[in-house]
Amino acid sequence: MSEEIPTLPTPLPTRLSRLRNWLSLSGLVLAAGAFLAFMLLFSVDIFATHANPYMGILAYVVAPTFLLAGLAMVLLGYILETRRIPKGHPEMASNFVLHVNLARQRDRRLLVGFVGGSFAFLFLSALGSYQTYHMTETNSFCGEVCHTSMEPQFKAYQHSAHARVACVACHVGPGAGAYIRTKVSGMRQLYHTIMGDFNRPILLHNVNQRPAQETCQSCHWSQKHTGDLQKTYRHFLSDETNTPFTVQMVLKVGGSDPVHGPVAGIHSHMNVSNKVEFIATDEGRLKIPWVRVTDANGKVTEYRSEDFKDDISKYPIRSMDCMDCHNRPSHKYLTPNAAVDQSMAFGRIDPAMPWAKAKVVKALVQPYATREEANQKIESFLRTEYPDDKRVDSLVSEAKAIYKANFFPEMKVDWRIHPDHIGHKDSNGCFRCHDGKHLASDGKTSIKGSDCTACHIIVAQGAGKDLEKVTPTGVPFFHIDSENTEPSCNECHNGQTQE
Ligand code: HEC
Ligand code: HEC
Ligand code: HEC
Ligand code: HEC
Ligand code: HEC
Ligand code: HEC
Repeated sequence: MSEEIPTLPTPLPTRLSRLRNWLSLSGLVLAAGAFLAFMLLFSVDIFATHANPYMGILAYVVAPTFLLAGLAMVLLGYILETRRIPKGHPEMASNFVLHVNLARQRDRRLLVGFVGGSFAFLFLSALGSYQTYHMTETNSFCGEVCHTSMEPQFKAYQHSAHARVACVACHVGPGAGAYIRTKVSGMRQLYHTIMGDFNRPILLHNVNQRPAQETCQSCHWSQKHTGDLQKTYRHFLSDETNTPFTVQMVLKVGGSDPVHGPVAGIHSHMNVSNKVEFIATDEGRLKIPWVRVTDANGKVTEYRSEDFKDDISKYPIRSMDCMDCHNRPSHKYLTPNAAVDQSMAFGRIDPAMPWAKAKVVKALVQPYATREEANQKIESFLRTEYPDDKRVDSLVSEAKAIYKANFFPEMKVDWRIHPDHIGHKDSNGCFRCHDGKHLASDGKTSIKGSDCTACHIIVAQGAGKDLEKVTPTGVPFFHIDSENTEPSCNECHNGQTQE
């Protein structure tokens, strides 16, 4: 290059001029990019409709790390530059790029490259951080990135009524408190996932981590609960012919808003003016020996189960919310009994195969250490049981499908770990309180709603012709195969077949 370089007046050397080196300048760009990303993430975080648990990591860990790295580069460049300049020769500090001469092609290229590169970097880091933010919002991030730890919840969720509702829509409650807790627990979760030392199974016994009632009510507001709900429960007995047995009933779901109808039925617990509080003596809230109701007029009634003599001040008192009944709205693990009933009702298992109900349930409930082991042993068991039946192929594949959707041996999760509190057949559910054995101080009155018709009426039951006779006023439960209609159904029923 033969261009003449016009001489410029040498700028006064200052300490700052030692920042004029490539390392420091790149550090500055990096720091600026990180700062931009931080500001962006921070504002998204503030204005987003619901908090994202992993956002904290991005906004308050990842972005600041880059910011610090950038600043460290600036400092390092400064130190190296200081060392390079011999003492007493400050003029040497200034012979750096700052003599940018736009007439010189090399300078022009360098400048364009540097400025263009910086802009591209700033743009990409903002875009990248926003994309990462979105990624952590998706259900596949929650459910699949943490593959083994979240697999049971994710699989069950995909089969639920809420399969299109984002994890974060339920799991991050409203309010600043919930927001901060989510941040903190998000970081802790990520740490435990990386270390692989998370609990198996994962339990949410800390009430603060479970969805809040307000969360559900953003979609299911109380005014919407009205009227009855008709449901059909189709079962097959564990006998040779897999005898069908169906119960059809009307559930008095009821309403909890006086403007839209009477406050009555099951959801009357949720009436704002009808407060139900309780004490649970175990972490899973299966044992509830003490209940207190405050009705609309402020009248307070306490109920205790007879054997509970403890002082209540030893226990935390909880207010009943949606999750005390709907504890499995989106992660429901079917009992083997219910899962096989369902497959038979839908024809995926042929009810004409002798003993099919009993045998598939038996295959499912054995203790297996891994899914692989389960698949192998379920298959070999069923093939030995039906050596010459062509239908065994589809039986095996359906049994494996049931196992895959409801059993997670690696995480030690199945219906036993997470019993469903709706109902009372396979676990105590409603009967944790409505067993007729929680008595008021008079020692006689039990909690209202503890007789068989308080929550539902059975309009038809049995099989075939029996189901054509519907009795709108209800019939008493005719318990097939057993005289027993004692409330504590789960003394016999535990989700497996009754021998
Ligand atoms: C409809 C609301 C809802 C949605 C959507 C939802 N959950 Fe849940 N989740 C719950 C409730 C309710 C519980 C149980 C709380 C309790 O037992 O007190 C729960 C419990 C959990 C637990 C604790 C273990 C357990 O099974 O009790 C994990 C882990 C979990 N959810 C992860 C997820 C993931 C991952 C997603 C998205 C793929 C998701 N959740 C979507 C409502 C929801
Ligand atoms: C983002 C909206 C949204 C949130 C939040 C939400 N749900 Fe739902 N829920 C739905 C939708 C949509 C359906 C499906 C409605 C249908 O099938 O008609 C549904 C269905 C249900 C059903 C009927 C289930 C069934 O199997 O048919 C129950 C019970 C329920 N939700 C309870 C809850 C509870 C409890 C919570 C809080 C933990 C909750 N929902 C949070 C949107 C939501
Ligand atoms: C006392 C227990 C209990 C409480 C508390 C409770 N529910 Fe329910 N809910 C039920 C039962 C039982 C059903 C009937 C559905 C069934 O058996 O599957 C039901 C049904 C529903 C349905 C489905 C209604 C339909 O027509 O399909 C929704 C949605 C629902 N509940 C939401 C809520 C929400 C939101 C809350 C909290 C504000 C709540 N529930 C509190 C017991 C309860
Ligand atoms: C934590 C204890 C508790 C649980 C669990 C519980 N309930 Fe209740 N329930 C109560 C109390 C307390 C009352 C109010 C009784 C009163 O007013 O004297 C009540 C009232 C009712 C009523 C109204 C009865 C009436 O005649 O006014 C119905 C219906 C009902 N519950 C259904 C259910 C169903 C269905 C479930 C299970 C999904 C359930 N409850 C779970 C404590 C509970
Ligand atoms: C506190 C309310 C409540 C009381 C009291 C109650 N039930 Fe239920 N019952 C329910 C609910 C809720 C379901 C629905 C469960 C579900 O949707 O999975 C149910 C379901 C049933 C079913 C169908 C179960 C199935 O899987 O086929 C039968 C049968 C039944 N109840 C019988 C009775 C009998 C008999 C009594 C009296 C001893 C009784 N119930 C008392 C709330 C109650
Ligand atoms: C003394 C033990 C016992 C008690 C208590 C009991 N059951 Fe059963 N139940 C049985 C037996 C045994 C069968 C037949 C099971 C089979 O052949 O698969 C059966 C069958 C059933 C079936 C049809 C098949 C199935 O497995 O789902 C339903 C529904 C049922 N019982 C509901 C109830 C309800 C609801 C209660 C409480 C009100 C109750 N049972 C209490 C022993 C009992």
